[in-house]
Amino acid sequence: MKKVTVKDLTLEEKVSLLTGKDIWRLHTFSGKLPEVFVADGPHGLRMVSRENAGNWGGEVYKTTAMPNVVNVANTWNPACAYETGKVIADECIEHDADVLLAPGVNIKRSPLCGRNFEYFSEDPYLAGVMGVEYVKGVQDKGVGTSLKHYALNNSENDRSSMTAEADERTMREIYLRPFELILQETKPTTVMCSYNKVNGIHTSENRYLLKDILRDIFGFDGIVISDWGACHNRWKSVKAALDLCMPVKEDADAQVMTALKNGWISEADVDYCVENLLNFIYRIQDMKPLRKLEFTEEQRLEKATAIATESMVLLQNENSALPLKKIPTLLLGRMAEFPAACGGGSSEVSSCHTHPHLKDLLAEKLGVEVTFRSATEPHFNGLTAARECMDLAARFDQVVVVVGEDTSLVCEGMNRTDIKLHPKHLQLIDNVTRVCDNVIVVIEAGSAVDTSEFQDKVNAILYAGYAGDAVNYALSDLLTGAATPSGKLSETFPYEKDDFCPDINFTPCGVDRYVEGIFVGYRGADAMDADVLYPFGHGLSYVNFRYENLQAEKKGETDYVISYDIYNEGDMDAAEVSQVYVGQAAARVARPVKELKAFSKDVIPARGKKHVSVTLDKSAFAYYNVCLKDWHVENGAFTVYVGASSRDIRLKKKLIVALPDETQFT
Ligand code: GLC
Repeated sequence: MKKVTVKDLTLEEKVSLLTGKDIWRLHTFSGKLPEVFVADGPHGLRMVSRENAGNWGGEVYKTTAMPNVVNVANTWNPACAYETGKVIADECIEHDADVLLAPGVNIKRSPLCGRNFEYFSEDPYLAGVMGVEYVKGVQDKGVGTSLKHYALNNSENDRSSMTAEADERTMREIYLRPFELILQETKPTTVMCSYNKVNGIHTSENRYLLKDILRDIFGFDGIVISDWGACHNRWKSVKAALDLCMPVKEDADAQVMTALKNGWISEADVDYCVENLLNFIYRIQDMKPLRKLEFTEEQRLEKATAIATESMVLLQNENSALPLKKIPTLLLGRMAEFPAACGGGSSEVSSCHTHPHLKDLLAEKLGVEVTFRSATEPHFNGLTAARECMDLAARFDQVVVVVGEDTSLVCEGMNRTDIKLHPKHLQLIDNVTRVCDNVIVVIEAGSAVDTSEFQDKVNAILYAGYAGDAVNYALSDLLTGAATPSGKLSETFPYEKDDFCPDINFTPCGVDRYVEGIFVGYRGADAMDADVLYPFGHGLSYVNFRYENLQAEKKGETDYVISYDIYNEGDMDAAEVSQVYVGQAAARVARPVKELKAFSKDVIPARGKKHVSVTLDKSAFAYYNVCLKDWHVENGAFTVYVGASSRDIRLKKKLIVALPDETQFT
């Protein structure tokens, strides 16, 4: 097919191309252009048939619900991010979707944000590393991606009208940084602008964000696509270099034509976007030869299970309560039968799999009787039911309670109101701990949960995140010791919902001011030297690890090879995520105590040792200087911290950076 150029299109066609043909497709002008079909989402393909592309109620194909992005991040294994992207791209190939509207890489600023389950981390470096692999996993299979939601979409309440107000350094070092890191390593076919305003201007009309930063500084060369309904005025968004308004918007063409007639925008402005769109359309065609269908839905579920198993985080394990003993066990909680496997909204898939009951999987793997009571079903009330539960629990030496937050509480378009579990769940745990001293709690939730009310009463807490269709397969392997936990938290679990940033549900006049600046998550906790429930990077194993022999080999002015040894002191092979943080104590600007700059996940044999090495470059020492409008390394003493979490530092070493004087300031 001859490639159409801007000159081959009439003005009417050019203007029409700026907006979607329907909910999921671009215009083709009766075959003049190849068709492009876009579809959600980050946790599995959510796509309607082409016949239904014009109506919102269309039934979506049944696919595999993958572990949510929160879980992918909690694996701290970039290969898991790659595999997730690859599996979902395989579904796109099966159903002929050209672009997957994923991954979301917004920073988890507040634990209340209703879409935290769709995002990687509170830390931009971790989000960047995992986002790179996710994009590669999708695009290596010939399917496009959409890096979203650009930018500062860190709250769901009033998302179409609220303003996220942040200073330049905070934006560059924290909120835009994942996009920058991913664009340094990959070429996503699209970036999706968010619903919200940034510093008073909708991102869909924010040329500073969409052109000056995203294209001119970050080097993005794909198309900028609006979130669905985020484009309010089509000519003003053309002026901001928003290439594609989605979905179809009846008044868009007229808005652009009027603006052209009045000289508010020029035809060159239109042609700029049309040029980008044509390049995008033909790039998608050029990617198609890479498309090869590889997996059945069963094979996709197997891959999902491996990722889910790596993603769950053992928060505590007193008295070696886990792995479970091979003794009669009581399993409580409706979610053991009907798991909270994903968050709600556009990322939710219609699963083609049935979820096995956790009771059956545990019974099979333990070889013992497992008694189940739902105990938390909606109508579970009154003393009778509670009394029955307690009487039962009193007769067991091992009780597993599954609690959490399902899509009625965690969903796109709304924030959580608190990080505490539902009173019914807290009551169940409290009742059981009154009559049993060996309680294990499993939490299925998409973001930080306050466990302070029960963590001292129970032995073990396993955070399952939203693990998708594989949730009970992964849980049964980890609870019975068939697999060893290796996940680590990619967000801080605070004691209170507003410990490290204001309550995002109370934003005066719709303005959410990022008063904490760069001190988000563990950066804030460290700055305040504040206690946290569970720190960023925390996660236990069934074995203990010992760290020794930290070395720093200088390879260049700011290039180092950092190496250390990790010993597995246990009797089973296990994986450890070691984290490397860097801090500059005496800087001329306020800087976090330490920031994650490298990490490594390594399987270490029982009683064995692994020599780990990671590299640091300039970015490990630099901060964004608003006067230079660039990243800057200030000479001086830095500390390299190596730890099992941001609060479990095992080794540290001082480095002196001494760059040539011409790079420094008096
Ligand atoms: C939704 C979401 C976005 C999704 C799009 C299409 O509102 O914000 O992530 O890709 O619209 O469903």
